[in-house]
Amino acid sequence: MIKEAQLQTGKNKILWIVSKKMSNSEDFEWRLSNFISNKNYNFDRKKILNACGENYIDDAFKVISLWKNYKPTPLIKLDKLSNKLGLNNIFYKDESKRFHLKSFKALGGAYAVEKITKGNKNITVATATAGNHGRSVAWGSQRLGLKCKIFISEYVSEARANAMRELGADVIRVKGNYEKSLEECITQANKNGWEIIQDVAWENYENVPKLTMAGYSVMIKEISNQTNQYITHVFLQAGVGGMAAGAIAGIAKYFKRIPKIIVVEPENADCVLKSIQKGSLQKVNIKKESIMGGMSCGEVSLVPWKVLRESVDSCCSISDDNVAKTVAMLKNKIFGDEKITGGECSTPGIISLIASSKNSEIRKKLEFDKNSNILLMGCEGDADETLYNKLLSKGNIELSI
Ligand SMILES: Cc1ncc(COP(=O)(O)O)c(C=O)c1O
Repeated sequence: MIKEAQLQTGKNKILWIVSKKMSNSEDFEWRLSNFISNKNYNFDRKKILNACGENYIDDAFKVISLWKNYKPTPLIKLDKLSNKLGLNNIFYKDESKRFHLKSFKALGGAYAVEKITKGNKNITVATATAGNHGRSVAWGSQRLGLKCKIFISEYVSEARANAMRELGADVIRVKGNYEKSLEECITQANKNGWEIIQDVAWENYENVPKLTMAGYSVMIKEISNQTNQYITHVFLQAGVGGMAAGAIAGIAKYFKRIPKIIVVEPENADCVLKSIQKGSLQKVNIKKESIMGGMSCGEVSLVPWKVLRESVDSCCSISDDNVAKTVAMLKNKIFGDEKITGGECSTPGIISLIASSKNSEIRKKLEFDKNSNILLMGCEGDADETLYNKLLSKGNIELSI
C-alpha cells in the first residue's frame, strides 16, 4: 500500500491519501462540542408563516426568479458520504453558484433593497455587514442605480471590502466589532436620511429582516422542485438565525412533510443553542471569534427567534478544528463525485452530520437510518478568495499528514 502511495504524485497523491483516510474514519475525529434537544418543539406552519409574512415568501420567489441570470443553484448528491454513513441520500445545496456573489446572502439583501426603494432612484441605502450581506445590498443597489453606504468592522477582510467597492458601494471601516459598525451605520443613516437595509431585527425594525428572510426561502422553493424525495433531516447553520429562519419558513411553505430541523453553530457563538435550551433569548459573550466568520454572532435576531424557538428539533455546536479539512475534502471529491467550492460557512452541515452520525446516542435520537434523506446547506463558495485559498491549502496539508 505504501509503495502504491509513493507512486502517486502531487495532487493525485493527496487525493489518494485523503480517500484512504476517509475510508478509515478513525483517522479523523468528528465530534460535536454540544448537542441539545428542544423541549418546546412544536412545529406550526401557520405560526411560522405569520411571523415571516407569507405574502413576502410568495413575492420573493416571483420577484427573484425574474432577475437577469437567475437560475436555481445546484442540489448535489454526496453519495460517497451517504454510503459511508448508512443514509439514503445527502443533498448539498451549492450556494457558491448564487449569481456571481457566491453565497445565499445574494437572495436577501438585494431583494430587500428592491422592495424598500420601490423604484425611487433618489434613495441612498446603508447597511452594516460581516461581508456577504453587504455584498448583496451593494449589488441590489447597483442593479437599481442607487447610492450605497456599507459599514464594516475592523475584522472584515480587505478582500470582502473590495468586493463591495467593485459593486459601486462606499465602504466605511469602523473601529471595533460588528456591533460598533451597526451603531455607526444607524447614527449616520439617521443623520443623513439614508434607508437602512439590515438583516438583523430590533424593536420596531422588523420589516427589512422579514424581507431578507423571505429572500432566503427561495433556496427551499428551488429544492422542492429539484427532488421528489422527502427530506427527513435538515442541518441549518446560524449566525443571528436569519438564514435558518428563512429556510424554515420555506419548509413550512413548500415541503409536504416536515423534516427534523437541526441548527448548527460555532462553539463560541452558540446563541441559538443557549436560547433554545433556556426557552428565551440569551446573549453570548464571544470570547474567541470563529473562523466561520459570518456565523460568529452572539445574539439571535428578534424575528428569526419567533420562528426558531418552536420549530427547531435540536441544536448543536462545533469547533473550528475540521473546517479547513472539510473545505479540502469538498474540493477533492471525497464526499461525492463533484468538485465543490465550499467556504468556511459551508462546512458546518457536513461536520455536524458526520459527528452526529458517528455518535450512537445522537444517531439514535435523530433517527438516522438507511431511509434518511439529509439536506445540507452549502451556504457560500470562495466569497473571500484569500481566506478560502488559505483554508484549502491548510486542509490539504492536514489531510496528507
Ligand atoms: C456566509 C454566511 N454568513 C452568515 C451566515 C449566518 O446567517 P444568519 O446570520 O442569517 O444566521 C451564514 C450561515 O449561517 C453564512 O453561511
